[in-house]
Formats: sequence, C-alpha cells, structure tokens
Amino acid sequence: MIMRLAILGASGHGKVVADIALLLGYTDVVFFDDSWPNKNSIGSWSVAGTTQTLLDSIIDFEAVIVGIGNNRVRLEKQVVLAAAGATFVTLIHPAAVVSNFAKISKGSVICAGVVVGTETKVGAGVILNSGATVDHDCRLADGVHVAPGAHLSGDVQVGECSWIGIGACVKQGVSIGSDVMVGAGAAVINEVPSGVTVAGNPARPIVSK
Ligand SMILES: CC(C)(COP(=O)(O)OP(=O)(O)OC[C@H]1O[C@@H](n2cnc3c(N)ncnc32)[C@H](O)[C@@H]1OP(=O)(O)O)[C@@H](O)C(=O)NCCC(=O)NCCS
Repeated sequence: MIMRLAILGASGHGKVVADIALLLGYTDVVFFDDSWPNKNSIGSWSVAGTTQTLLDSIIDFEAVIVGIGNNRVRLEKQVVLAAAGATFVTLIHPAAVVSNFAKISKGSVICAGVVVGTETKVGAGVILNSGATVDHDCRLADGVHVAPGAHLSGDVQVGECSWIGIGACVKQGVSIGSDVMVGAGAAVINEVPSGVTVAGNPARPIVSK
C-alpha cells in the first residue's frame, strides 16, 4: 500500500522526520519548503514546491507534518495546513518508550531514545528530540522543543513554543512559561516567566551579546 507523507520544511529536522516516517512504514516522503526553487533537494529527497504548492496538492497525501525547527514558525505552519484540511500524523520512533497513559497530540515528533512517562500530556507540533526524557504528569504546550538529552522531572509544565536546550534538566514541579529559551546544559530549579532566556546552574536569566 502506498503511504505518502508531505513534510513542510526541508531542514535538518525535516530529514530526521523523514527517517522516522520511513521506519514507520511510509513508502514515500515529499518535501516542501518556502525557499523552493532555490532549495530543490534535501538529503536523498527532492523538494517539490512551497507551502502553497502543498496546500494545492494536499489531497494527494495520506498525511502531513511540519519539519521546521523554529517553534513559532512550525506552529504557524501547522495552523495554516490544518485550516486547509491536512491530516496530521504523530511520529514516534520505534526506539522511543512512551507510556500507554501519556497523550501525544497531532504533528508531534518523538525521536529515538526518548522516554515519556505516565499521565504526561504533549501538545501539538512538539519535538521530543533524541534521548530526551519527560517524566510523569508533565504538561507540554503546543510547539515545544525538548532538545537532545534534556530531562524534565515529574510535574513540569512548559508553555507554548518554549525550547529546552540540549542536555538541560528541569526540577520536578517547575513551571516554564511560553517562548522561553533554556540554554544548553542548564539546571532549571525555579519558575521561568514567559519570553525569558535562562542558562547555567542554577539557571538564571541571561542577556544576549
Ligand atoms: C542560551 C542560548 C540560546 C544563548 O544564546 P545567545 O542569546 O546568543 O547568548 P550569547 O551567546 O550572546 O551569550 C550571552 C551570555 O550567556 C552565556 N551563555 C550562553 N549560553 C549559555 C549556556 N548554555 N550556559 C551558560 N551560559 C551561557 C554566554 O557565555 C554569555 O555570557 P557573558 O555575557 O558572561 O559572556 C544558547 O547559548 C544556547 O545554549 N542554545 C541552546 C542550543 C541547543 O540546545 N541546541 C540544540 C539543537 S537541537
């Protein structure tokens, strides 16, 4: 049976998405990217057109997913495609361990080595990247990215489009607002308000140079 997946976003993350989709039984992946025709290939795949091209051909695909790393852009594109009637897939790598009592919403990607604990709720368009762990009873809003090797203890809340950097860890029960950036390797032990970048151990707000 032919199973065609459209991926919007010909990026490094898009290639990860394609790899997982093929492992899960999709027979064909087709990329779209707004930088087409300048960008006409990605890894082993060709890029077929822009967001508009995809919108015009959406019925040709069994499923659609957004493979864009930028959290806000990923979520915005997902909203546009959903309004056009796209059928979103949730991709869970066969080497991820997801509790039967966790809930993962549409358009999210769970990479190899991820562990998701019981009663955790993961929003739409979320990325749980390689080796990340999200323990029991966490709440991750739409568009969140938990980068490779980051660890969230139980009862952690993460607001819309926040990014937990590579190797960071978050203490149990901590609330992180929306559009937060948690730096690589940070140890978050206190609440983080929306829109703030924190880094270090213990994590504190930083100012970009
Ligand atoms: C936190 C981060 C976003 C800050 O980037 P930035 O806004 O460009 O900040 P700058 O590089 O200008 O650094 C500002 C200050 O914060 C410090 N800093 C930056 N990142 C830090 C980190 N992860 N831990 C500790 N300190 C950090 C810098 O040393 C600098 O300190 P100084 O003013 O004393 O010299 C970035 O460094 C980071 O950690 N990104 C995570 C990347 C990641 O997870 N990638 C995964 C891809 S899947």
